[in-house]
Amino acid sequence: MSGSRLRAGLQPWWRVIGVQCRYRSSAARSGRSGWVLGEATELSDPDRPRRVPAAVLSSNVLNLGMIAIGAPGSGKTDSVMLGYINALDRQSPRSGWALFDGKGDIDTYRKCVGMRCAPDHFFSSELPGSESINLLEGASHDVVDRLSKILIGTSDSTSFYMDEQRAVLARMVPLLLRLPEATNLRDLYVVLCMKDAGNELRRRARKSGADPVEITLARQWLEQPFATRVRNISGLLNRLFVFVAGPGADRLNVYDPDIRISAIVSGRKSLFAHLPLTSFARDVAIALIEMFGVEARRRQIERTEAPVTYPLLFDDWGAFFSRRLRAIQRALPLRGNAAVIWFPVARTLACDRSRLRR
Ligand SMILES: Nc1ncnc2c1ncn2[C@@H]1O[C@H](COP(=O)(O)OP(=O)(O)O)[C@@H](O)[C@H]1O
Ligand SMILES: [Mg+2]
Repeated sequence: MSGSRLRAGLQPWWRVIGVQCRYRSSAARSGRSGWVLGEATELSDPDRPRRVPAAVLSSNVLNLGMIAIGAPGSGKTDSVMLGYINALDRQSPRSGWALFDGKGDIDTYRKCVGMRCAPDHFFSSELPGSESINLLEGASHDVVDRLSKILIGTSDSTSFYMDEQRAVLARMVPLLLRLPEATNLRDLYVVLCMKDAGNELRRRARKSGADPVEITLARQWLEQPFATRVRNISGLLNRLFVFVAGPGADRLNVYDPDIRISAIVSGRKSLFAHLPLTSFARDVAIALIEMFGVEARRRQIERTEAPVTYPLLFDDWGAFFSRRLRAIQRALPLRGNAAVIWFPVARTLACDRSRLRR
């Protein structure tokens, strides 16, 4: 949709939503659930806006994902995100959700509580009293994948060092996860940078029934001179250090954590992740999202139950995921405090924010 066409269709008091929508009557007729928006304006043809008395975004459309872009104060958090959580709670009470709050504004949490959608779990990269997780939890290939994303540098490492870092994760993480007791990133750090710890791990993993191939691969890496192996992975160790010793590290390295992503997804619980924007918070968010990704994949493969929505919601995270979002926002014909929501679909709808159910 071109900016000028969109601008032509805007009324100052309308909030614009680029979505495919189902009107309540047709959604009700087809028995499909969705998010009841209330009064709205159909903008399929922005030059001829059409009033819709009761619009509903069908669940099928919501499941495609959505992005809300708008000026500060336009209602992205309260009307769109909290509105959606509220609608989900009423229309699909068996669904869980996870909200990643990038502003660190505790007000959003208070509003969740205020509208009786208090999250089951609260994790914060900043607040000492919040709940704990273990970033080393999961199947070893998933953990290696996750750690590669947060621990391996891209721009400042040559491919030799990146390959070395990847190789060491692939060789040592499976042994740690083979042990009968829980392990965490602090154990990984010790194994990588204490001279004898790697061999001790290899010995104990063998006793715990580790695959001989895993043991051989680990031995090959450990046979290098100690100084050489530490030098080759120094970039990884520097990044890992932030997760084992920095502020907040205690809550990421708990053997018996409060938050287990697999359990909260299968139990359809909700999680509020308070992650005020820092590069550390971003890395924690990436690790959590990877964990949710594993669960999404598992649910798709197993298909043992009818799929239940488990949305991931990101508030004020756009700039972290794409630098282009800011440019897109600047280019949009935003008037006053209009909010614009895009869906990857054809029809468009403008919605009066004051009428959005909250
Ligand atoms: N549907 C609504 N009805 C009334 N007030 C709203 C509505 N949506 C948002 N607001 C108010 O507008 C202000 C800004 O909303 P907010 O969601 O924080 O904006 P954004 O996240 O886009 O910066 C808040 O004070 C909020 O309470
Ligand atoms: Mg906001």
